[in-house]
Amino acid sequence: MKLCMIGAGYVGLVSGACFADLGNTVYCVDKDLDKVNMLNKGKIPIYEPGLAELIKKNYSSKRLIFTSNIGHAITHSDIIFLCVGTPTSKNNKSADLSYVYKAASEISKFINKFKIIVTKSTVPVTTGDKIEKIILQKKRKKLFEVISNPEFLREGEAIRDFRFPDRIVIGSNNKNTTRKLEALYEPLIKKGATFFATNRRGAEIIKYASNAFLATKISYINEIANLCEKTNVNIEDVSIGMGLDKRIGSRFLRAGPAYGGSCFPKDTNALTVTGDLYKTNLSIIKTVIKSNAKRKKILINRIKQILSNKIKNKKIAILGVTFKPNTDDMRESSSLVVIPYLQKKGAIINYYDPSGKKKEFSKLKNVFFCKSIETVSLKADLIIIHTEWDEFKSIDFRKLSKNKRFKIYDMRNLYSPKKMKKLGFNYFSIGR
Ligand code: NAD
Ligand code: UGA
Repeated sequence: MKLCMIGAGYVGLVSGACFADLGNTVYCVDKDLDKVNMLNKGKIPIYEPGLAELIKKNYSSKRLIFTSNIGHAITHSDIIFLCVGTPTSKNNKSADLSYVYKAASEISKFINKFKIIVTKSTVPVTTGDKIEKIILQKKRKKLFEVISNPEFLREGEAIRDFRFPDRIVIGSNNKNTTRKLEALYEPLIKKGATFFATNRRGAEIIKYASNAFLATKISYINEIANLCEKTNVNIEDVSIGMGLDKRIGSRFLRAGPAYGGSCFPKDTNALTVTGDLYKTNLSIIKTVIKSNAKRKKILINRIKQILSNKIKNKKIAILGVTFKPNTDDMRESSSLVVIPYLQKKGAIINYYDPSGKKKEFSKLKNVFFCKSIETVSLKADLIIIHTEWDEFKSIDFRKLSKNKRFKIYDMRNLYSPKKMKKLGFNYFSIGR
């Protein structure tokens, strides 16, 4: 099939490359000329394992085309995916839909024959109705169908998530269109993905409800971890014991720092705004948002406690600053709250992240980027493991800090408290 992805960001680029790899011809359109030029030179604007190789392969076989010429891409495609951003609005916590509506309006100019317009961007319920109205201003109803196909991929595991999704959700009010999408996804369905079709508004709610549920699961286990710390119980055992119940499930029950990233924080907020708009109090999600904000304060208090309230001039090494491993994304990472707080209190921070130096910390005095685990930890009083990158999972701490009395705060529970105690380390973790 001939496809067009509007927006070559995380979603557009990854799904575009994966669709091309399944044998489709894919136009990836972005209004950001620098991004398009970069892609045409073989450079990848995001950090995503495996993506460079996939793009290279499909670009050279001419199945993947990068362009800023939206008109050309639309006239040559049968299915158009909207993959533009839906960030938090500047005025309130709703989703800013201006990119979606602008793109819909641009698409409407170039519809020359029947097109399926698919919203992959995460959008509040009834956005599909509005997109349809925008296009109807320029084109007759017979010439297009607007449907929803929410994306569930995770950063850092995006290609695997695209290729082996648990489910493919299509929200469409037209059976023929649903069948065309089913045909597009057939290779994934054959490998075991469940294809689930509902109406357009239903799919829009499924996306937000899923993200908010996962955020709830994480906040829930984080609060239980607080209780475990007070009662000398191991949170890992609790997660396993709970997760063995198939009704609960074992995934997304890892206690840690506050959840972050470009999606959970923005989508939970946007969903509560939608609820309010329809006079529906989504009180559980509102509580989750508060609990997650509080989590950052809890982490800071724990650090203070570990350092006996003496932060000034303490050398603190931070391992990993991104919100999760295998991404360079810093959005809503709890390190953005923890590091400035410690710096303000007079700590000297050295941080190392495998995805490189971060502009977010470049203006902070006494916050330095180091290039390895060894250099970052050299004279540390406290080593904090903030993100669970693979290379932090088998550190020989005995060889690290010259300060023999250094402490370790493992926010991702990568090490065994028993073993660390045996080795003589002053080791703290989450909920254990
Ligand atoms: P992004 O910011 O990485 O990419 C969006 C791209 O769209 C940008 O490159 C921007 O220049 C481009 N763009 C905006 N308006 C355009 C226009 N009119 N024409 C052409 N290009 C245009 O965003 P993202 O992370 O890919 O997210 C996109 C959507 O998918 C959001 O709604 C997000 O919530 C959702 N989502 C994201 C993820 C994820 O892991 N990042 C996963 C699932 C769903
Ligand atoms: C999340 C969802 O998992 C995707 O399904 C969804 O498509 C995406 O949002 C989106 O809508 O954009 P992502 O934000 O990439 O994906 O990352 P996750 O792996 O979900 O992690 C989010 C945060 O939760 C991270 O800070 C992570 O450290 C934290 N987390 C996750 C935990 O603290 N514990 C867990 O058990 C799992």
